[in-house]
Amino acid sequence: MTLHAQTSDPVLDPRTLRDAFGAFPSGVVAVAASVKGQLTGIAASSFTSVSIDPPLVSFSISTTSSTWPLLREADRLGISVLADHHDAVCRQLAGPREERFAGLPFRVTENGAVLLDEAVATYDCSVHEEVVAGDHVIVLLQVHEVGGGDGEHPLVFHRSTFAKLHRDDLDPSRLDGRINGAEVDRDDQRPPAETPAEASDQNKEDAA
Ligand SMILES: Cc1cc2nc3c(=O)[nH]c(=O)nc-3n(C[C@H](O)[C@H](O)[C@H](O)COP(=O)(O)O)c2cc1C
Repeated sequence: MTLHAQTSDPVLDPRTLRDAFGAFPSGVVAVAASVKGQLTGIAASSFTSVSIDPPLVSFSISTTSSTWPLLREADRLGISVLADHHDAVCRQLAGPREERFAGLPFRVTENGAVLLDEAVATYDCSVHEEVVAGDHVIVLLQVHEVGGGDGEHPLVFHRSTFAKLHRDDLDPSRLDGRINGAEVDRDDQRPPAETPAEASDQNKEDAA
């Protein structure tokens, strides 16, 4: 079933819709590449994970974007999850095109993906598919490589402003034990590890 937002409906005027969309918190990523020798990129809060097999992520780009026609030509696109000290970086990446990378610490992979040094995580991707959706294009990206990044905590975008995560606001005992069908281990249900080596073994089991 396809749902269409009736923007002519007074209840769903664009301002109301923007406010409703803005209630949903998200992270922010830099989508960037060196294309024909030119550093090219934007900030995007529409990034989300899509599929494990094959590994896919997505973001949505406005059909009016002046950057996407060039960026989509890149062999590889770098996705950098912005850290919570990246608020100014985010504004810069959304600002005038010629100043977007000025003074930023980043590296360019051999395939041309641009990855920010202090990101929380990085993804080296290529365009898998583009789906036109109203005034945006949903860009599906195939993930070729992921990196841990140097940053610790992500930048949060909510109601048109930047925020930080407050992890201790969450009470783990109130979370259901399953996320997306996978059992989630909770630290509070485990006996404490005896030695650092045991703790490290536990971490390896968790990662497996
Ligand atoms: C926090 C934040 C999130 C943004 N998210 C998106 C997004 O998901 N999609 C999008 O098309 N533009 C987004 N933008 C705007 C772009 O970063 C950029 O400003 C816009 O594409 C205009 O530049 P362009 O014409 O060079 O593409 C965002 C801007 C900010 C500040």
